[in-house]
Amino acid sequence: MSADDFAALLEPLTLGAITVPNRLLMAPLTRNRADADGTPNALMAEYYAQRASAGLIVSEATWVIPQGKPYPRTPGLATDAHRDGWRTVTDAVHAAGGRIVAQLWHGGRVGHPDTSGEELVSASAAPLERLTVFTDTEAKAPVPAPRALRTDELPGVVAAYADAARRAIDAGFDGVEIHGANGYLLDQFLSPNVNLRDDGYGGSPEGRARLTVEVARAVADAIGADRTGLRISPGNPAHEIEMPDGGDAHRALADALAPLGLAYLHVLRPLDGNDLTAELRERYGIPLLLNSGFAARTDRDEAIAIVDEGLADAVAVGRAWIGNPDLLERWSTDAPTTHADAKLFYAEGPRGYVDYPTLAEEDDEAAA
Ligand SMILES: Cc1cc2nc3c(=O)[nH]c(=O)nc-3n(C[C@H](O)[C@H](O)[C@H](O)COP(=O)(O)O)c2cc1C
Repeated sequence: MSADDFAALLEPLTLGAITVPNRLLMAPLTRNRADADGTPNALMAEYYAQRASAGLIVSEATWVIPQGKPYPRTPGLATDAHRDGWRTVTDAVHAAGGRIVAQLWHGGRVGHPDTSGEELVSASAAPLERLTVFTDTEAKAPVPAPRALRTDELPGVVAAYADAARRAIDAGFDGVEIHGANGYLLDQFLSPNVNLRDDGYGGSPEGRARLTVEVARAVADAIGADRTGLRISPGNPAHEIEMPDGGDAHRALADALAPLGLAYLHVLRPLDGNDLTAELRERYGIPLLLNSGFAARTDRDEAIAIVDEGLADAVAVGRAWIGNPDLLERWSTDAPTTHADAKLFYAEGPRGYVDYPTLAEEDDEAAA
């Protein structure tokens, strides 16, 4: 493929109130570089600003309340200090010419009381059976069984998302993305193998979709539907999630949310599962961002194919942005790329985070 093949990725696109200058977006990537209390810092501002040429940056998942903090050194949007820390990040991204939305997160049964200081909660008391998690002291801590959230606690969870969304706008974000993917709290409610509830938030596809619907409505009410995106991952088995209903909860979710007119739908699903993706795109009737999942790192050919073949309006790329802060320049000119070291994805400090060079920096080094 040549530089010409890339032309469709360089077309601008409107996502609700956000106009992006190109369709090579940066997918959300947890990197564990925040301060211990979840406050974003100068290192994070440098990392995100380096990647400002992405059409849109979706921030790493950011917990809305401490109860939903799954891993050490992940950022929050639950306090004024978090808001002020994020302000340095959004200012740096905007000064570098970029756009950034905050991914709003609650881990549910994924996490550890040693990390959050709170007991784990989920749709039901269904434990993770095989998975272990990182804590500050252990690389592979077994995960205790969660407690089922009571019906009267759910309005508080919904309100936490809306509060975090307001804080995100106060922090200078261009919008938010609700994290309904990858086996975290909202996905736990959607999935029949974790959601065994017999109140109005379980049972039928509509019941299982209800918490995500209420969160999306509350966030849209707080900051505007045109600044609210949603990420889902139908069929992704991350964190022991199963989809034996063939996607019926996702269909119910789409039908309930379509009237809202959200800014975009972001789907993580392998391209060979494109039948359901295409159906959901139709049901939502809003722009679609696509990411093909964890199995293989998205490469240039796949990014081009997703947009050129019209599978989606834009592609969200994860790991290639880690090793290549100037990924847009590299892929648009078909230049070589750097393979990021996976051992440093979740490590502490600047190594493997802000030290990947741009093409221009590589040239300078070669000339020196
Ligand atoms: C280090 C790492 C952290 C991730 N963190 C998040 C996250 O915070 N939120 C999310 O929705 N997906 C997360 N993902 C999934 C990515 O957004 C993306 O879907 C995945 O990496 C596959 O795309 P790729 O092949 O382009 O990397 C993460 C993936 C990786 C590798």
